[in-house]
Amino acid sequence: MKLDLKMLGEEAKRKIRGAKNERDLDGLRVEFLGRKKGKITLFLKNIRNLPPEDKPRQGQLVNRLKKEIGERILERKEALKKGEPGEYIDITLPGKKPPLGRLHPITQTLEEIKRIFIGLGFCVVRGPEIETEYYNFEALNMPQYHPARDEQDSFYLEDGRLLRTQTSPVQIRIMEKTSPPIRIIAPGRCYRRDAIDASHFPMFHQVEGLAVDRDITFSHLKGSLTCFVYQMFGKGTKLRFRPSFFPFTEPSAEVDISCIICKGSGCNVCSQKGWLEILGAGMVDPEVFKKVNYDPEKYQGFAFGMGVERICMLKYGIDDIRLFFQNDLRFLRQF
Ligand code: DAH
Repeated sequence: MKLDLKMLGEEAKRKIRGAKNERDLDGLRVEFLGRKKGKITLFLKNIRNLPPEDKPRQGQLVNRLKKEIGERILERKEALKKGEPGEYIDITLPGKKPPLGRLHPITQTLEEIKRIFIGLGFCVVRGPEIETEYYNFEALNMPQYHPARDEQDSFYLEDGRLLRTQTSPVQIRIMEKTSPPIRIIAPGRCYRRDAIDASHFPMFHQVEGLAVDRDITFSHLKGSLTCFVYQMFGKGTKLRFRPSFFPFTEPSAEVDISCIICKGSGCNVCSQKGWLEILGAGMVDPEVFKKVNYDPEKYQGFAFGMGVERICMLKYGIDDIRLFFQNDLRFLRQF
């Protein structure tokens, strides 16, 4: 009751402030103070239905408001006569919330990956998306008829260059113009001529990592990636280094993490295996060092490459890569 009266008072005052002429004000007098149906008058009439102990207090409140509104109407009439503007901006009204944008989940994941590796002392570098065959393949120990080149069906330009199929060529570009020690990550877009399905898209993102120094060992690789996985997926996550092959690393490994859904006991997401593959890695092949004139007897290095879409899908339980590129706000708003 008290609250209703307060709100009614606010409403009346707001309308009075907004009145543009005398006629508006006469209308407001009837609306609020009219003898029969005035909104405040009705409050006054209702007092007789209240319990006797409430009557005096309520009567006082309503009468006070009645008097105040009457005065305000008169004041506003005077102000209008003096030519004060009828328009009124009520700065006490709650504002409209402008819709806020947000970062795309891929961008958010990239930012998180960068943050973690920067914390480990890595610098963020970039390379071109249009590459030569030399940087994309040859310098990475994949000569022209190397079988691994078939695996990656590429988009070629007329001049023989191509859209990079991986971020690994940035390793070469950095080593060519820097001498060790090197600790870099290279995030960016990659392109492959893949048919689109739930796990393939012709454009995707990778983050490449490279560390070169004297006495770098596989343990440094394991330590860095373990630190990354703990921060990205939580400290209880297990890692498994599975022997594998990449032309530019020897030895090479594919790194699995214990399934973040079932914690390793087997479920649909991990195809009952308990493990999820998240990246490729290894020790930089001496052949790659020779291409950039590093002495493989002096320097060692580790490298890794991960798919950002894949990391993001695993982290948030997203089962279709196409969702990232459809710009459906119902999907994007969840991040
Ligand atoms: N470039 C590889 C790919 O696209 C990923 C990769 C594997 C990068 C091992 C590396 C590495 O640097 O050491 O599949």
